[in-house]
Amino acid sequence: MTNIDIFSPLRLGPLQLPNRVVMAPMTRNRAGRGNAPGPLNATYYAQRASAGLIISEATQISPQGLGYPGTPGIHSSEQVAGWKGVTDAVHAAGGRMFLQLWHVGRISHPSLQPHGALPVAPSAIAPTGQAMTADGMKPFVTPRALETSEIAGIVEDYRHGARNARAAGFDGVELHGANGYLIDQFLRDGANRRTDRYGGDALNRARFLIEITEAVVGEWGAERVGVRLSPTNPFNDMRDSNPAATFATAVGELNRFGLAYLHVVEPAASDPVPAGEVPDIRFFRKHWRGALIGNKGYDLARANAVIRDGCADLVSFAVLFLANPDLPIRFRRGGPFNPPDRKTFYGGAAAGYTDYPPIGAE
Ligand SMILES: Cc1cc2nc3c(=O)[nH]c(=O)nc-3n(C[C@H](O)[C@H](O)[C@H](O)COP(=O)(O)O)c2cc1C
Repeated sequence: MTNIDIFSPLRLGPLQLPNRVVMAPMTRNRAGRGNAPGPLNATYYAQRASAGLIISEATQISPQGLGYPGTPGIHSSEQVAGWKGVTDAVHAAGGRMFLQLWHVGRISHPSLQPHGALPVAPSAIAPTGQAMTADGMKPFVTPRALETSEIAGIVEDYRHGARNARAAGFDGVELHGANGYLIDQFLRDGANRRTDRYGGDALNRARFLIEITEAVVGEWGAERVGVRLSPTNPFNDMRDSNPAATFATAVGELNRFGLAYLHVVEPAASDPVPAGEVPDIRFFRKHWRGALIGNKGYDLARANAVIRDGCADLVSFAVLFLANPDLPIRFRRGGPFNPPDRKTFYGGAAAGYTDYPPIGAE
């Protein structure tokens, strides 16, 4: 037990965070023309600048990495300029912000891909479910398995995205290695049946993540790079035969970089774990040598408990932050909390985005 809680400041590499309340990454499908952020997005993020750290919505590193309408990219100069408007607004409001780097892999659809191409993945395994296209939901297609020789090019796309994120004025980047997107598709054996050096045992399945980490650390320095993982989240039709073994290996490899943090979408009681121990936050505390962000379903009491027990250093909040732009002050005062409007989570304009009232104005 310690006296540290969610309101305690924290030194995170070169950054001084005033509190440990992190805004979790949230896709909101409100980018403008050319999938570039605009003034509305800058207002939304600046409203949330009292977070110890903001992590942006997932942001595609290349046109091939796109999987949903209206998500922002970080591959064009128009997008870099748009994001610069966002980071300037967040900094002017006293905040700090990382960009979440994203490639959706098989969670796309030919209608979203350049030249109508098939989405790419570690293996040609179609996920069960539907893609969100510009014309509504469509069944996922069987993706094309990447050739071994193509993988270096995707690592380069991550490097390029990371470099653009610096030009756009971010304070760092987070690799989206969670929730069934491309990096996670390589990590978990339900989506990766490769027989080359990127498939097979856990070390081979972690190789894609490690090569990307190396490239991105080369652009930013390790102290400004975080990684997000979701060891048991079945979202996007994901599974692994032994998540404890898979993620102990991945984290063991990541340890050598000295990264800013590891961000874990923690196991839910209903997540399937066919073999091995449940890789919960204590498991990551044991295996990870660095700052740890816990996530999923936290309220103030649970967040303080996990920090006081020494199991996490920070906690991220998604839905609570979406609906409460001034979440840290609401935590300090014990509420009240605005209810989230789920109809406006994905897509639309200011309604359900920048119009959640600050405390005292409800
Ligand atoms: C609207 C919405 C969009 C999300 N988009 C992302 C995303 O872009 N990247 C990501 O890693 N997780 C994303 N998530 C997952 C959240 O970051 C978080 O893990 C999840 O909501 C659980 O946290 P919570 O209980 O505090 O809401 C999203 C969640 C929501 C509700």
